[in-house]
Amino acid sequence: MEKIVSLAKRRGFVYPGSEIYGGITGFWDYGPLGVELKNNIKKEWWKSMVYDRDDIVGVDAAIIMNPEVWKASGHLDSFTDPLVECKICHERIRADQEDEIKEHEDEHAEKKEKATWTEPKTFNLLTEVFLGVTEPKQKAYLRGEITQGVFVNFQNIVSSSRVKIPFGVAQIGKTFRNEITPGNFTFRSREFEQMELEYFVKPDEKESQETFGYWKEERMSWYVSLGIKKENLRFRVHRESERAHYARFAEDIEYNSPFGWKEFEGIHHRGDWDLSRHKITYKDSETGEKYTPWVIETSGGIDRAALFFLLDAYSEDGDPSTKLGASRIVLKLHPKLAPYKVAVFPLLANKPELVKLAQKIYNDLRCRYMTAWDDRGNIGKRYYSQDEIGTPWCITVDFESLEKEDVTVRDRDTTKQVRVEISELISYLEERLR
Ligand code: GAP
Repeated sequence: MEKIVSLAKRRGFVYPGSEIYGGITGFWDYGPLGVELKNNIKKEWWKSMVYDRDDIVGVDAAIIMNPEVWKASGHLDSFTDPLVECKICHERIRADQEDEIKEHEDEHAEKKEKATWTEPKTFNLLTEVFLGVTEPKQKAYLRGEITQGVFVNFQNIVSSSRVKIPFGVAQIGKTFRNEITPGNFTFRSREFEQMELEYFVKPDEKESQETFGYWKEERMSWYVSLGIKKENLRFRVHRESERAHYARFAEDIEYNSPFGWKEFEGIHHRGDWDLSRHKITYKDSETGEKYTPWVIETSGGIDRAALFFLLDAYSEDGDPSTKLGASRIVLKLHPKLAPYKVAVFPLLANKPELVKLAQKIYNDLRCRYMTAWDDRGNIGKRYYSQDEIGTPWCITVDFESLEKEDVTVRDRDTTKQVRVEISELISYLEERLR
């Protein structure tokens, strides 16, 4: 974990928020590579949900909504976390975080102290904001889940598009939670992004359970298809006591992180909780049947996905192409997620003919893919620098390139090098990025 946090800062994936003013707990900024990684995750998710299907449409709702939304949805009353306070040092920990409580008790035990805790108190996670310039200002909330924006627009979506039940609405956006104990790098932040699907079905037990089963498998396969190792993922059914107030049934996809098995994405059977709270019904245009649809939700965190993709991709291995087998750091990110798809190098920076050809290739590629340029140091160092940020292919222009109009393409994972004709480069990359 420390290695990832350090690499993330050093190479421009993630920086502590407002760092030059001492930071602010629970907020993170994404650097040039981090924003590419997050955008790639979002792009792949949107493609799998909206572009590849004809039963899902997208929305992008406002972050601040009429506060009545949060009253109706139950968040003002029930969107809470229980908190306990250590009676010795007054540190506060979420009462449901058994590992953290145990860790804290162990720390005191080492000092021959026995930690005892206050009774759990509940704290609401919604973040308040105040709107307007004259007093009294209007109190509102930054959304605590992006979800409600879909429900309040349900009728607008049905009447303005051609969707018919069963159908889904996909959304990506920022969420804010006044978390009591942000931590584990970006894992638990106070500002984060979610990618969510709300899938509406008939109020039917069998059909809704089948839809739930379908989506949980789809979401698990999506993570595996983008390179997360199968053995690092598992499902976990929520106990009744830990279910969110809106959930009839819930299951998490968990990731085997350095700080234990942790929630990656939640699959929730929300029943008619939300639509009935907002007094929304649906009328089947063919049969005239009127009912309150049930909702199956898949809700993933993009920051959490970025962190787990980085952790899963991180490896240190020997480079078989060097005689010494020197160890190198490689981010074995799926090429679709890698910030840079390709890097271009002239073998020598002081040979204008090599630089000129390399620059031409670079300019041709960069209008299609995020392409890096490097002409510093020796080739080995440039390869290692690209390995560390996950660039799948490095192209080197050498003297042979001038004669034969081909280049060396070096693969990040195998370190194998092949010669590819310059005119074939785009189809070579396209084939591997498909
Ligand atoms: N609409 C349902 C919902 O919001 P959730 O289980 O509270 O469900 C869904 O959150 C996902 O959002 C989580 O699985 C996680 O990936 C992400 N998430 C939740 N709280 C987070 C936090 N404090 N920091 C980063 N990501 C978070």
